[in-house]
Amino acid sequence: MKTESLGTIVCTEDGPSTEKIEFVIGNRNELSTEKQIPIHVGQYVSINAEEGLVIAHIEQIYKTNRYFSQIDAVHEFTRSGKAFGAIFPIDRWEYVLAEAKPLGIFTNGQVQRVTYPPSPGAIVSAPDYKILSEFLGFSKGGIHLGHLLFHDIPATFNLSKMYQKHVALLAMSGAGKSYAASVMLEELLSRKPAQGRPTILVIDVHGEYTGLAESQGTKGKTFEDQITVIRSPLVEIATPRMSAKAFATYSPDMGTIQVRELTRIIRSLRTARKGQPYDIGDLTIALEQDPSINVRTREALLGWLDNLQSLRLFGKTSTPEWSKLMKPGQAVILNLSETVSLQKKQIIVDAVLRHLFDLRRDGIIPPAIVFLEEAHQFCPEARRALAFSKGILETVAREGRKYNLSLCIISQRPVRLSTTVLSQCGTNIFLRITNPYDLDHIRATSEKITKATLTSISSLTVGEALVVGQATRFPVFIQVRERATKETAFGEDFETVTQRYDKKGRKAD
Ligand SMILES: Nc1ncnc2c1ncn2[C@@H]1O[C@H](COP(=O)(O)OP(=O)(O)O)[C@@H](O)[C@H]1O
Ligand SMILES: [Mg+2]
Repeated sequence: MKTESLGTIVCTEDGPSTEKIEFVIGNRNELSTEKQIPIHVGQYVSINAEEGLVIAHIEQIYKTNRYFSQIDAVHEFTRSGKAFGAIFPIDRWEYVLAEAKPLGIFTNGQVQRVTYPPSPGAIVSAPDYKILSEFLGFSKGGIHLGHLLFHDIPATFNLSKMYQKHVALLAMSGAGKSYAASVMLEELLSRKPAQGRPTILVIDVHGEYTGLAESQGTKGKTFEDQITVIRSPLVEIATPRMSAKAFATYSPDMGTIQVRELTRIIRSLRTARKGQPYDIGDLTIALEQDPSINVRTREALLGWLDNLQSLRLFGKTSTPEWSKLMKPGQAVILNLSETVSLQKKQIIVDAVLRHLFDLRRDGIIPPAIVFLEEAHQFCPEARRALAFSKGILETVAREGRKYNLSLCIISQRPVRLSTTVLSQCGTNIFLRITNPYDLDHIRATSEKITKATLTSISSLTVGEALVVGQATRFPVFIQVRERATKETAFGEDFETVTQRYDKKGRKAD
């Protein structure tokens, strides 16, 4: 394949070296008349060198023009009122100099470190489509999130590399996190049985994922046959699945003696029931009738059980029946938008994840991916920000990999996220982030991110993302593709909603 020549490597004080090369862009005059930008920061280039094909990434671009470096002369001419360009061929003296960082050598499908610099005078070209795709580690048939910025190359990530360890999708609000997650879901749900299909749970805090299952007539796509939406008021946690320790998670003041007594009572209730399910009401009766328990312990336990009972979350069996819904190629959207209490949401997330963890460990459900929106609410870093679901999320983060239970953590406040969870995310996808505390936190938790990369995170536009980590060989900037399914109304702006409300109101008059 013919490659386009972009420029020529020049000598500088400290280059070309294995760390940095600079090259001057060729054909400047031709290009300037067409008003075409020849090259962008963030683009990739290739150079044929002794070691093989060097692929480099453009980090900075400078312009220079000798005519304008003589400050007094420029000043004098400007004062005379004459157009500079009318007298001097200034165009011809403008140079565009690009600084690029060699990333690696590509030979026979292998990527090696650059150990010898390309020579001054070497030609810098636009890299071959297939080579660049392979070099960056994109894989055919993978998760197609969008395309590489400045290159017409599909950004497709290998399923295993992406979900073997967990994924963090981080950005400020409105940058396109939920949109990107929906694109990811479309990709996962589009997989054919032969490719291997995981099962999916989406913990949808705002109810913004239901669009994936909405029908759109002939236009657009829907996954209605593959998705079950569960509204949080319908969720019931199976009381017989709860150990005394699990009860203690939701009643943090419970002491060891109380846990021990409750364990004893649960055990004898289980024996008495001979495998028949029971609920908190039954447990309360067992507690009241127990002859040997200390009165104060009994009162305390009754108080806690009463509190939990009032949440109306605990039943005899689990609703829905998770093992029936979590099938290959199927997704459950757990819509929490009707539940206001954060504690209640945390209890639901905790119980459901504990259940899934067990189901997965016992091989009852296929490899699973759990998408968690507003993750900082469920596994916060701060000790005093008590979250019932933090323990299980940290366990899944640490041990989920063994059982192929993967998390996709979505959050707009990385600084508030549990570092245990964040540091277990093998792949980070960043969209626009401008908060300096969040940026510092990201820098501290991800060793692959350089300062220059970090700066670019704050200048991304909506839908542009940086993917870093196991899913890709080098950090890559991508444009997230358009989704094929319907976007839920949650994304609508203030004005649109106001107008619709007003219209409805007038109709009602
Ligand atoms: N890749 C994209 N292409 C087109 N529009 C996008 C893209 N990403 C986000 N948007 C738009 O930007 C808005 C905010 O996106 P959203 O995913 O809700 O942000 P976040 O979840 O980060 O708050 C949405 O209205 C969405 O339509
Ligand atoms: Mg969102």
